[in-house]
Amino acid sequence: MERQEPGRLPILKKILAFLKPHALGYAAGIIGIGFANFFMNVFLARILMDLTRGIMELSRQQLALTTEIMVGGTLFMVIWVFGSGRLLVFSIHRTVNDVRRALFEKYLDIPLGEIEQRHSGDLLSRSTTSLRQVSSLLMGEVQMFMNTAFSGIGSAVYMVRLDPRMGMAGILCGVVPLLVNLPFANPLRDAGMKYQETQATFTQRMSDLINGRDTIRHMNLTGYAAERAGESSRMVLRAGMRQVGVSAGRSVAGSISVLSSQAFFIYVSILGIQNPSLIPAAVAMVQLANPVRRLFGSMGGIIAAINTNMGGAQRVVEVLDLPGEPVRYARPEVSPEPGQTDMEAHQTELAAIATEGSEAGEPASAGPSRHLPHRLPGQATPWEIPVSVRGFDDLTPLRVSDLSFRYQRSDKPALTGVSFVLESGRRTALVGPSGGGKSTLVKLIMGLYPPTCGDVLAFGKSIYDTSLTDWRRLFSYVPQDAFLFAGTVYENILGGLDDPGPEKVEEAARLANAHEFIAALPDGYSSLVGERGATLSGGQRQRIAIARAILRDSPILLLDEATASLDTESEALVQDALDRLMANRTTLVVAHRLSTVREADEILVMAGGTVVERGRHAELMALCGTYSQLVEEGLGGKKTQDSV
Ligand SMILES: Nc1ncnc2c1ncn2[C@@H]1O[C@H](COP(=O)(O)OP(=O)(O)O)[C@@H](O)[C@H]1O
Ligand SMILES: [Mg+2]
Repeated sequence: MERQEPGRLPILKKILAFLKPHALGYAAGIIGIGFANFFMNVFLARILMDLTRGIMELSRQQLALTTEIMVGGTLFMVIWVFGSGRLLVFSIHRTVNDVRRALFEKYLDIPLGEIEQRHSGDLLSRSTTSLRQVSSLLMGEVQMFMNTAFSGIGSAVYMVRLDPRMGMAGILCGVVPLLVNLPFANPLRDAGMKYQETQATFTQRMSDLINGRDTIRHMNLTGYAAERAGESSRMVLRAGMRQVGVSAGRSVAGSISVLSSQAFFIYVSILGIQNPSLIPAAVAMVQLANPVRRLFGSMGGIIAAINTNMGGAQRVVEVLDLPGEPVRYARPEVSPEPGQTDMEAHQTELAAIATEGSEAGEPASAGPSRHLPHRLPGQATPWEIPVSVRGFDDLTPLRVSDLSFRYQRSDKPALTGVSFVLESGRRTALVGPSGGGKSTLVKLIMGLYPPTCGDVLAFGKSIYDTSLTDWRRLFSYVPQDAFLFAGTVYENILGGLDDPGPEKVEEAARLANAHEFIAALPDGYSSLVGERGATLSGGQRQRIAIARAILRDSPILLLDEATASLDTESEALVQDALDRLMANRTTLVVAHRLSTVREADEILVMAGGTVVERGRHAELMALCGTYSQLVEEGLGGKKTQDSV
C-alpha cells in the first residue's frame, strides 16, 4: 500500500467511529480509572498529612481515626477500580471485534485486481499485528494518557490550593522532565514505525516459506530462503535495537531529571524548618509532586507510544478505505463504434461472416475462419432455463462481444476484441500457447474482473445489467488446482450451498469418481482436508471440486486446465468425471488434451490475447496454422498420450 502520510486525525476519527457504539462503557471506564488514580493520590497525601499532624501532636486518637479512613477508603477504591476496569476492557474488546469484522468483510470485498497487488503476508499482518496495535492504543496509551492527565492536573490543583508557594514550585520542577523528554518523541515514533515495517516484511517472508514449502524443498532453495528470511530477521533485530537505544536514551535523561524533584523536596524541607506548621503540607507535597512530574515526564513517552500504535491503526484504516467491489460493473464508456450498440455491432459482424463465407463459395456455417466469429450449423437444442437464470430472456447461454481487458499496472492488454458465442448444451474448447489469455478470458466471463471494454451477455442479459452475485451464480468453475477450505470433505463438496442432504452429496461424489476414496478416508465425509486440502492428492482435490460443480448445477460450466497438473492415472479418473459433468452442459473448456478438444463443437485458438482461429478440429487442422502446430507440439506444452 502506498505510504502516503495521512493526517493522524482522519485515522483517529475512523477508529473512534468504531468506538462510538461502545463509547459509554469506554468513557465510564476511562473516567472511573482516571478518577481512582487521582483520588488515591490525593487520598494518600491527605493521610500522610494527617499522620504527620498526629505524630507532631502525639495524638493516638488521630492515628486510629486515620487508620480507619485509610483502610475503608482503600477497600472502596479496589472495588471501584475493578468495576471501571471491567467496563473499559469489555468496551475495547467489543470495539476491536467490530474492527476485525470490518477487516475480513473488506478482504472479501476488495476487487481481485487490488488484492493481487499486495502480498498475502502484508494483508495478514494488517489483521493481526496492526489490529493488536489498535487494541493497545485504546487499552494502553489512551488510558495512560487520561490517567496521567487526570491525576497530574488534579494533584497540581490540589497542591496550589494546599499551599500556593509550594504548589507552584512543585509544578515548575515537574516541567523539567518534559523539557528533557521532548527531543526523544519523534525519534521514538520513527523507530517504532520502522520496527513495524521490518516485522511486516518478515511476516511476508515467513508466509512465502510456509506456502512455498514444496518448491523450496524440491528446488533445494532452503539456503536461499533461509538467507532471505535471515536478512529480514536481522532487519527486525536492527530496528528493535534502535528502538531500545532511543528508549534507553530517554530513560537515562528521564532519570537525570529526577534531580529536579529532589531539589523540590529540599525546598519544601527548608520551608518546613522555617515554619514547622507547614510540615504536614510539605509531607503531602512530596506525595503530590509525583503525579505532577509524571504528567509532564511521561506525556512525551505516551504521545510517542500513541504515535507508534497510530502506525498500526493507519495500516488497518488503509485497508478499510480500499474500494469494495461494486454491486455490478459500470459499463465502460468506450463503445465499439459511435452510434452503434454492442448488439448491433455483433450483428454487423455476423453479417460480415456470412458475406465472407459466400465469397469463398461455401455456406457461412460450414467453413473455418480466422479472426471472425463462427456459428455452428443448425440451431442449438433448446435448453431448459435453470432457476438461477429466470429473468434472463434469451436461450443463448453466453455471448462474448468484443471483449478487451488489461490487468492493473500492466501496460499491455491481456485480451483484445474477443467475440464468440456459447451455444446451449455445446462444448467449446479454448486452446493456445501459455500466456495467450485463456485463463484471463475465463475469469472475465465469471465477472472476477471488470472488462476494459466490450460486453458479456448471459441468456441475453449483459454483465453490466446484472449484479455480480447473480452473475457468478450462472457459472461452475473448475480450475487447474481447486481450492479446498480447511474443513470436512462434506463441507467442501457443499461449497457454501444449502445442504441438500447426504444422499445428494454422495450422489454428486459418485458422479465425480470421488465417493470411493472419500469412503476410504478415516472419517469418510467428515474427514478434515487440512489447509488448502494438503492431506489429499491433486486428483482427489479435483474430484471434490467436480462434485462441488455437479451439486452446484450451474447452467454454464467453465473448466480451466482441470487435469493439467495431474499424473496419468488420476487424470483418467478426473477426466471420466469431467466427461460426465460436461455431458449436455454448456461448457467452455480450456484444454490441453486432444481428446477433449476433438470432441468440442467449436474450438477457439487464442494467442496474444485474441482469437486467432476458430472452427472444428478437422477444419482447423486443414488450415495448417497455429492450431495444427499446437496439436503437433502436444497442445499447450503437455504431451498427451492420445494420437491425432
Ligand atoms: N493477475 C495478473 N496480473 C497481471 N497480469 C496477469 C495476471 N494474470 C495473468 N496475467 C498476464 O496476462 C496474460 C495472459 O495470461 P493467462 O490468461 O493466464 O494465459 P493462459 O491461461 O492462456 O496461459 C499473460 O501475459 C500473463 O502474464
Ligand atoms: Mg491458464
